[in-house]
Amino acid sequence: NTEEEQTEDYLFKIVLVGDSAVGKSNLLARFARDEFYPNSKSTIGVEFQTQKMEINGKEVKAQIWDTAGQERFRAVTSAYYRGAVGALLVYDISRRQTFDSIGRWLNELHTHSDMNVVTILVGNKSDLKDAREVTTAEGKALAEAQGLFFIETSALDSSNVAIAFQMVVKEIY
Ligand code: GTP
Ligand code: MG
Repeated sequence: NTEEEQTEDYLFKIVLVGDSAVGKSNLLARFARDEFYPNSKSTIGVEFQTQKMEINGKEVKAQIWDTAGQERFRAVTSAYYRGAVGALLVYDISRRQTFDSIGRWLNELHTHSDMNVVTILVGNKSDLKDAREVTTAEGKALAEAQGLFFIETSALDSSNVAIAFQMVVKEIY
């Protein structure tokens, strides 16, 4: 039973969620392979990577799932969320529209997964300082109101990427 395998205590399923082009696939590429793609294409369907992590001196594995932000390229929604124990809700700090979508993504997450799923709100592209449309304070306030963890990251310059994934896994573990 694959559902049971995914929820074994040492293998944590984590999903990446958010609008198209916020940087979900690049956050995963940076975290799992220390790579960045300046011209990456939209994800089609679903991809995942399993990443070993050390939490409190113990090895755990995170299986991180990534799908398209665009409806027409997305994986089957219920299968995507099934068994997830962690979620990164990602927006792009340089596009307010992606921040405005977070409520919708949160609804979908809550509809298809356990209410206890450990969720972190991630403001990605913190390197785009001059193009910022969403302040750090706004991100923090939304996270507090919704009971989420919060961090700003940059898949481009690597800042806070590993920490974002570690915060989720630590809290699950
Ligand atoms: P979908 O698969 O369509 O849902 O998009 P996605 O959320 O996976 O976005 P993706 O990782 O493909 O990144 C979209 C674009 O943003 C690419 O051109 C990336 O190079 C760029 N990008 C991703 N992360 C960052 C970042 O932290 N900073 C900057 N400046 N650009 C980024
Ligand atoms: Mg993608």
